[in-house]
Amino acid sequence: MNGNPIGIFDSGIGGTSIWKEIQVLMPNEDCIYLADSKNAPYGEKPHEEIVKLSIKNTEYLIEKGCKLIVVACNTATTNAIDNLRNQYDIPFIGIEPAIKPAALNSESKKVGILATKGTLSSALFHSTSQNHAAGIEIIERQGKGLVELIEKGDLKSDSLKLLLNQFVQPMVEKGIDYLVLGCTHYPYLIPIIREILPSNVRIIDSGQAVARQTKAILGKQNLNNTLDAKGTHHFYTNGSLEVLERFVLNAAPKVTAQYLDF
Ligand code: SIN
Repeated sequence: MNGNPIGIFDSGIGGTSIWKEIQVLMPNEDCIYLADSKNAPYGEKPHEEIVKLSIKNTEYLIEKGCKLIVVACNTATTNAIDNLRNQYDIPFIGIEPAIKPAALNSESKKVGILATKGTLSSALFHSTSQNHAAGIEIIERQGKGLVELIEKGDLKSDSLKLLLNQFVQPMVEKGIDYLVLGCTHYPYLIPIIREILPSNVRIIDSGQAVARQTKAILGKQNLNNTLDAKGTHHFYTNGSLEVLERFVLNAAPKVTAQYLDF
């Protein structure tokens, strides 16, 4: 089992921001990444459909022999990770918006969160906010439309900038000092978000924390790859292969990608 790959899935290419951290921290692990771009965005779908899609992605990765699955999608995590953990024996790593460190460190006691409708309306997000952000004003914005643009490979058009400005500026005006990125697609927008934010506002995304958690769980369950060789990374997408390749081909050695009618 130790030589088996880590499975990663997302509603599209956003979870590659998590994969990048995983392969930096564990360069000898093999990874299989499934981008369900055909069904992006998950964030606008009903809960039951998000659970169904997450199960479908999981079954595919288990069939490929994955020893652990990273649900590299905030919407799928907040809506479906309990179902997955109840249904399958392998470990699952999920991605929740990093409200806790932002709330702990905020001096203005005002934290912004940019995420999808599906994440912001989930029970898991509400319980996390209640348990870890007492006394903090959480200013939520749905990033409607952002995932669609990123899935097209757009990381800097004027319409993208305009949209981001509409989401982020009102939070700045309310006095946030932390902005939590609650969707794995959004780290690709950090250069533009940085242009909008004043320098005292920090951005938090979950990529490195998720990679560390993945490593810890592999270690605890004696599942880490003990070989020294560089891992291989295989990507499947049911969306645009050309866009996916732009995001991953040069990000690590031994990367291959293919279209999958999934
Ligand atoms: C989406 O598919 O709507 C975004 C994925 C995420 O929440 O990370």
